[in-house]
Amino acid sequence: SSTVQLAVIPGDGIGPEVIAEAVKVLHSVTSDLDTTFALTEYQLGAEHWLASGETLPDETLAKLRDHDAILFGAVGAAPGDTRIPSGLIEREMLLKLRFSLDHFVNLRPSRLYPGIASPLASPGDVDFIVVREGTEGPYAGNGGTLRGGTPHEIATEVSLNTAHGVERVVRDAFRRANDRPRRHLTLVHKHNVLVYSGHLWRRTVEAVAAEFPEVTHDYLHVDAAMIFLVTDPARFDVIVTDNLFGDIITDLAAAITGGIGLAASGNINMDRTAPSMFEPVHGSAPDIAGQQKADPTAAILSVALMLRHLGFDDAAARVERAVDDDVAGRTGTPRTTAQIGDAIAALVS
Ligand code: NAD
Ligand code: IPM
Ligand code: MN
Repeated sequence: SSTVQLAVIPGDGIGPEVIAEAVKVLHSVTSDLDTTFALTEYQLGAEHWLASGETLPDETLAKLRDHDAILFGAVGAAPGDTRIPSGLIEREMLLKLRFSLDHFVNLRPSRLYPGIASPLASPGDVDFIVVREGTEGPYAGNGGTLRGGTPHEIATEVSLNTAHGVERVVRDAFRRANDRPRRHLTLVHKHNVLVYSGHLWRRTVEAVAAEFPEVTHDYLHVDAAMIFLVTDPARFDVIVTDNLFGDIITDLAAAITGGIGLAASGNINMDRTAPSMFEPVHGSAPDIAGQQKADPTAAILSVALMLRHLGFDDAAARVERAVDDDVAGRTGTPRTTAQIGDAIAALVS
C-alpha cells in the first residue's frame, strides 16, 4: 500500500471550519482504499502573521514542496482590520505559493446543481469551467508609485503576459474542451483596450486551435461576457482567460450557480514539477467566521478536484455524487457547517 502526503493549510476565518469538513469527507471516502492519506497541518495566514510576523518562510515553502498536494482553506483579515496591511498575506503567502509552485492552471468549474436555486430566473443548463491563468497577468507584474503623496501621483500596475505562460494555459484549456461533450472554448479578454496582451492571447488561441480540430472556439470581450453570464450562462463550455479577469468572472459564476459556498478550485501545476493546491474560491468570510454558518461544500468539492488530480477518479466521483445528493435534498432549513460535512461524509462512506 502507498501513502499520499497531504499538506493542509486551514488559514483564517471560515478556513478552518470548512477544512475540518473537507478532511472529514476525505477520510470517509478514502477509508476503504489501499492508499493512506497522511495529513500535515501548517499554521499560516493572517492570525499566524499577527502571532509570529511570518508570512511564508522559505523553510515552510520547502516543506510544502515535499507533499503530493496541498489542501487550502482561506486566508485574509477582515477588510476593516487595521492591524495588518491590506493583502499582505494574500500576496506574500497565497500568491507566493501559486507562483513558486507554478500553478499555471487555475481551474474553476461552475455548475448549477439540480435543487439549487439560481438568482437568475431561467438560467438553463449551466455547466462550464473557467481555466484561469494562475501565474501571470496583473498579479505578477511590477507596480509602482511616482510622486506619491502629491496631486501628481502616478500609480502603475503592469500586466505580465509571456508567450510561454499564455500558450501553456491555452493548450490546457483546449485539451479540457476536447474532453468535454460540447467541445467549445471561449477566450475572454479585452483586446480592444489591452492591445498587446490581448493580441498575444488571441494569436495564441488561433495557433493552438489548429491542434484541436474538433473544438470550436469564439471570443468575447470581458464586459460582454458578463452580459452573457447573466442572460445566457448555458452557452459557455470552457472559458480561458487571464489571471485578473478569471478572478472576477469566477465570483460571478459562483453567484449565478447558487453561491460562493459551492465554488471549488484547483491551482494546478500540470507539469507536476511541484504539488498542486486545492481550495474553495471564496475567502475567509470574516462576517460569518466562527459561527458555523459557512457552507463547506466548496472545500469538499475542492477535495474531489484534488482526488482526481492525484489519480483517484473513483473517489473523486463519489464525493461529487454525494454532493449532488446532498444538494438535491436541501430544503432551505439552515444547517451548521459541521452538519453539512457530516451529511456528505455519510453519503460517501
Ligand atoms: P469572501 O469570499 O471571504 O466573502 C464574500 C461574501 O461571501 C461574504 O458575505 C461571506 O460571508 C460569503 N461567503 C464566503 N464563503 C462562504 C461560504 N463558504 N459559505 C457561506 N458564505 C460564504 O470575500 P471578501 O469578504 O472579499 O474577503 C475576505 C478576506 O478573504 C479578505 O481578506 C480577502 O483578501 C480574503 N480572500 C482570500 C481568498 C483565498 O484565501 N483564496 C479568496 C478571496 C478573498
Ligand atoms: C481568489 C482570491 C485571490 C485572488 C486573492 C485573495 C489574492 O480572490 O483566490 O480568488 O485574487 O486570486
Ligand atoms: Mn477571488
